[in-house]
Amino acid sequence: MSGTIRYFFQKQIHQVDQIPPTRTLLQHLREDLHCTGTKEGCAEGDCGACTVVIGDISNGEVTMKSVNACLQLMPTLDGKAIFTVEDLSTETQLHPVQQAMVDCHGSQCGFCTPGFVMSLWDLYLDREPPCAPLTRKQIDIALSGNLCRCTGYRPIIDAAHHMEQLPRVDFDKQTLLDALRQLQRSEALHYRYHDQDFYAPQSLSGLITLRQQVPEACLLAGGTDIGIWVTKQFRELGPIIYLGKVKELHDIRQEDGVLEIGAAVSLDDAYRHICDLYPDELTELWQRFASLPIRHAGTLGGNVANGSPIGDSMPWLIALGSRIVLHGADGEREMPLEDFYLGYQKKALRADEIVRAIRIPLPHPNRIFRTYKLAKRFDQDISAVCAAFSAELTEGRLSNVRIAFGGMAATPKRASHAEAALNQQHWDEAAVQAAMAALAEDYAPLSDMRASAAYRLQTAQHLLKRFWLETRITAPLSRQSVNAFSASTATAATPTSALLEVK
Ligand code: FAD
Ligand code: FES
Ligand code: FES
Repeated sequence: MSGTIRYFFQKQIHQVDQIPPTRTLLQHLREDLHCTGTKEGCAEGDCGACTVVIGDISNGEVTMKSVNACLQLMPTLDGKAIFTVEDLSTETQLHPVQQAMVDCHGSQCGFCTPGFVMSLWDLYLDREPPCAPLTRKQIDIALSGNLCRCTGYRPIIDAAHHMEQLPRVDFDKQTLLDALRQLQRSEALHYRYHDQDFYAPQSLSGLITLRQQVPEACLLAGGTDIGIWVTKQFRELGPIIYLGKVKELHDIRQEDGVLEIGAAVSLDDAYRHICDLYPDELTELWQRFASLPIRHAGTLGGNVANGSPIGDSMPWLIALGSRIVLHGADGEREMPLEDFYLGYQKKALRADEIVRAIRIPLPHPNRIFRTYKLAKRFDQDISAVCAAFSAELTEGRLSNVRIAFGGMAATPKRASHAEAALNQQHWDEAAVQAAMAALAEDYAPLSDMRASAAYRLQTAQHLLKRFWLETRITAPLSRQSVNAFSASTATAATPTSALLEVK
């Protein structure tokens, strides 16, 4: 075991051993290294002012991903490279991303600008010329985690188009790969500062041994939930076990009719694989899940293990019949995902166990499946209601109906009454009306800042009707035509009412 955090920054290897394990990358950059180009806006992953790019090795190749520095705890940066806005320009020349922001008037007060520049740089790096011009969608996805309060977004989007028209500046991946190789460890990191321990096991067996030795330790994956416990709730985490270095938790495999995703696979990689299988049903949810930097850092395992009643992955995972794989001292066990949630923040996870993987059924020819997220903004917003519906439809009759909602109960929960109202029924308006009524028996939602109880229930019912409109056999409506119909009847005062108008 070795106790120093080592990372690559500004062409040098840095070693750190005098900071608490909960020091964030943003605090370290600004307060310890005095690199104040990276800004703090919200300190909770929402504004993007702190966006940096992290270099790492995956399967022998360099990866570069934008993340929010305010949520990354320093020891998780061990073995990685950090790039901030200070890295882009030379003494005499701005980087094309920065020059494009100047040329297109993409900055006013400038507070958000370093974050936008880093998100754009991440996009720039992903594109090896020659390639087709950037689309507006690609730019929107890259900038989904950046807020600007004064410039407005149009000049920044112009800059994104313009940056590729300027002479290209290539990034030297080989030098970075050589540096990152020097940082790789043969042994797990055990970092200790004062009386707080941070462990980064590299194997599943090492992780399970540690879990038994330190059962009170906080399991840390991408830190996009835990980072906020530190920066906003000032919680003491105690000992920390980091899952990001455990090789087995990064496995993705497809066999026996199932896609298995390791718990430490990032949300963005996980959804990319899942959307290859369910492109029409899940791509919009993927793009609306938080922002790109949060999806780069956060993991599918963390989303499921955290089990928030308003998390976005659980409804569709449950509707598809996915299973959760738990690993502990006695080996492995698995269960239907819905059985994992016992009550508000109560899960069927023993003290010696971790979530190892999620097992997702592959598409089935007769299966109809949809998922819908309702939130006040398109991206970077938590759901008020998240719905998922799946069923087998054979000769117009439904079977194996599975309906799950987030935002409607203390846990992600199936709608057993509505399912019973639909099973073995013809997929017609009478059946859907009966199931809509049954939803009122399944859920008694709360009112909170995101939505009232009445709104949630009414919306849930209308989402079920929308599912019918999109999948019924006779002249089904496409999602686009339902959207167009909804938009034409929506009122300006209630933007999310579009979905309520599907009557
Ligand atoms: P962490 O923060 O590392 O951990 C979360 C919890 O899971 C902790 O209790 C941890 O101990 C536990 N845990 C993690 N991995 C395991 C494991 N393998 N075994 C056992 N326990 C484990 N969520 C949504 O659903 N939709 C959104 O749109 C969304 N938007 C967000 C926007 C912002 C700005 C932020 C900051 C968060 C948002 N989230 C959203 C929440 C968060 O990003 C997700 O829940 C994410 O998947 C958490 O994963 P993580 O790896 O970061 O978990
Ligand atoms: Fe706002 Fe990090 S400071 S996202
Ligand atoms: Fe002021 Fe964006 S330029 S916040």
